[in-house]
Amino acid sequence: MAHTSNTISLCLFIVQLFFMLLAKANAKIPAIIVFGDSSVDSGNNNHIQTIARSNFMPYGRDFAGGRPTGRFSNGRITTDFISEAAGLKQIVPAYLDPAYNMSDFAVGVSFASAGTGYDNATADVLGVIPLWKQVEYYKEYQKKLRAYLGDTKANEVISEALYATSLGTNDFLENYYTMPQRRSQYTIDQFQTFLVGIAKNFITNLYNLGARKISLGGLPPMGCMPLERTRNMGNGNECMESYNVVAVNFNEKLNGLVMELNKELPDIQVVLSNPYEPMLQMIKNPSSYGFEVASIACCATGLFEMGYACDRFNLFTCKDANKYIFWDAFHPTERTDRIIADHVVKTALSKFLA
Ligand SMILES: *[C@@H]1O[C@H](CO)[C@@H](O)[C@H](O)[C@H]1NC(C)=O
Ligand SMILES: *[C@@H]1O[C@H](CO)[C@@H](O)[C@H](O)[C@H]1NC(C)=O
Repeated sequence: MAHTSNTISLCLFIVQLFFMLLAKANAKIPAIIVFGDSSVDSGNNNHIQTIARSNFMPYGRDFAGGRPTGRFSNGRITTDFISEAAGLKQIVPAYLDPAYNMSDFAVGVSFASAGTGYDNATADVLGVIPLWKQVEYYKEYQKKLRAYLGDTKANEVISEALYATSLGTNDFLENYYTMPQRRSQYTIDQFQTFLVGIAKNFITNLYNLGARKISLGGLPPMGCMPLERTRNMGNGNECMESYNVVAVNFNEKLNGLVMELNKELPDIQVVLSNPYEPMLQMIKNPSSYGFEVASIACCATGLFEMGYACDRFNLFTCKDANKYIFWDAFHPTERTDRIIADHVVKTALSKFLA
């Protein structure tokens, strides 16, 4: 009798172990938590005083319900697709959007703000949310999450969540190459080192707040954005090679930072999600991805318009954004973002999502 019950409990134990291992093998992330700029802002800027906005048509015309949300896209953006790939919701809502509450934010939230950068001075240009303030919002979020889920479950979400960051382009294009201050202080190489120092502090802060799984976003080939090509008019609207070189150099420095953080901070797992190569391939060879237009954007003339200049009454706006790599002069279409998201999900993020 005793023998039988021992056998049964051993069997139960093995079954239990099996399910535990299975659960572990299937364990994707419980939430996605996003910091950054317009590449990942899902509507926070709708709720602050700034002109860096896109909560009007034709933005969002291919979003569910044909609804502008504040995403700088005709539809969804990369972090929405990553969330979906992780088995979470189809969209990552903006923290400042009153249409959502903690039951939504417990599985996905974006603190990102269009127009921001690593450098405080970048956020100042358009009066948007600086990175340090995004971290302050995240601290407030942690309190609300603990109140909503209880300490144990909340701490689990905090340590198992995927933290996705995407910013940096504005530090160069909106700040360094546009405003005089940083250029008078730093060479381009020194400025990059300054930004990487801020990135290091930022990731270390997140780590100290409990984050462990972190995706640091790299820079796209920013010299190929339609706006930069338009500035390069004298050279036949080619990509601005000098800006692409900066993006490559900065991504190399970010990669160095990733290695450094993985070495220095116990249990942290940081990866670089780098959109540079997949995006450059699309731009160089649009037809092999089913695109027809790489050099100008869908919205308006496609040469320089974004935000308020990209308006619903512009007769030049393209009919089918899926044929375009860029939606406005600075931001990819939904289709481009989906391809980039698929790429990083299969590469850098596979260790978190597989
Ligand atoms: C969140 O909002 C939904 C409806 O939009 C509601 O059913 C739910 O009770 C709310 N949850 C919290 C925690 O407020
Ligand atoms: C940015 O501003 C915040 C708030 O004023 C400050 O705490 C932080 O040190 C600044 N960051 C840098 C790199 O200057």
